[in-house]
Amino acid sequence: MNPTAFRLAQRTSRLTPSMIRELMKLMGRPGLVSLGGGLPSADGFPAEPLREASQRVLAQTPREALQYGTTEGLPALREWVAQRLLQRGLAIHAAQVLITSGSQQGLDLVAKLLLEGGTQVAVESPTYLGALQAFAPYEADAVEVACDEAGPLPERLHEVADARALYLLPNFQNPTGRCIPQARRVQIAAQAQALGLPLIEDDPYGDLWFDRAPPAPVAAHWPQGTVYLGSFSKILAPGLRLGYAVAPAPVYDLLVQAKQAADLHSGMFAQHLVVDLLHTGMLDTHLDDVRARYRLGRDAMAQALHTHMRDLATWQVPQGGMFFWLTLPRQIDAARLLPLAIEQGVSFVPGVAFFATTPMHHALRLSFVTEPAERIAQGVATLAQLVRRALANQSGQAQ
Ligand SMILES: Cc1ncc(COP(=O)(O)O)c(C=O)c1O
Repeated sequence: MNPTAFRLAQRTSRLTPSMIRELMKLMGRPGLVSLGGGLPSADGFPAEPLREASQRVLAQTPREALQYGTTEGLPALREWVAQRLLQRGLAIHAAQVLITSGSQQGLDLVAKLLLEGGTQVAVESPTYLGALQAFAPYEADAVEVACDEAGPLPERLHEVADARALYLLPNFQNPTGRCIPQARRVQIAAQAQALGLPLIEDDPYGDLWFDRAPPAPVAAHWPQGTVYLGSFSKILAPGLRLGYAVAPAPVYDLLVQAKQAADLHSGMFAQHLVVDLLHTGMLDTHLDDVRARYRLGRDAMAQALHTHMRDLATWQVPQGGMFFWLTLPRQIDAARLLPLAIEQGVSFVPGVAFFATTPMHHALRLSFVTEPAERIAQGVATLAQLVRRALANQSGQAQ
């Protein structure tokens, strides 16, 4: 007999636990060198400016900040987003900006509008695990577009032309750290437009560059065919749960209705807080600080990898964002290495988590923003030892 009265919808069979969230439970071990988490550095959160902003908001506009609000979001915040995107090379109107509860909600809402059973959504290989999770309950099949180290190959887009959309992460991708060059962005947009393949552009890391800002968003090259998603999580703090979606008119109206059904609107208090904070003009200095902090982590990891792993793995040094992506020798299964690594006091995320259909077992993702330089070096040294040992064991077994 059914032990519960609940009869679950078919789509629940598509829900998947996030491997990363599962790992985070193990990663609570004291002393563990955490190269596995995907969280921004809490040392860089603007806690004091936020405390001051919250005092001002509660003193000056408590009735508005604590009241229900419009689904689209606070006009001043939408205006700020439009101005900011203009500076980044994407000219849009504030009327096209929908404030969301993180860009993760943007992914869910777009999926709700576009996907259903029997359809496909195209993704990069590898891609952001949280997007695969967001798309899954809408019962479309995720298919991978062929990629190289600069991102999706424009000449291969026709292979996924039947998909309802192509999900793209052009800036410092999670998990690979790769950044799609300007010329490739133009080609992808042109090819997608020619194929009638809409784009979902997810850009939470675009402001986290180290030497030079990334090129204009792909959306700038095909605004009518792109839903662009942004976030305050990596530039201010993820606990605010604020992001935004920018969409062409007919899709925009449906996104607003889908959001209204989901949560009426994003938190008004957080929106007022962020508007107040942004109007103080603190963001540029704050971002300089975050970039400097993350660049130190990137340099420490690049150095440690060069010292300990140059004969064991290949990688690209990321020019922004939070992650290195390592390709190990083919015979190493990163998921099997992980329990040993945790035993030895270091964590990472096995690459297999980030693939929709054709996983790479011999890859892994390392975050360089959680630990200080000495511990990054220690963690990478431990990892190198483990890989060396695994290779030695395997060649021993082979003999
Ligand atoms: C690529 C990507 N998209 C979206 C998100 C979700 O971010 P948010 O906090 O804005 O919901 C993340 C979070 O790590 C991410 O890495």
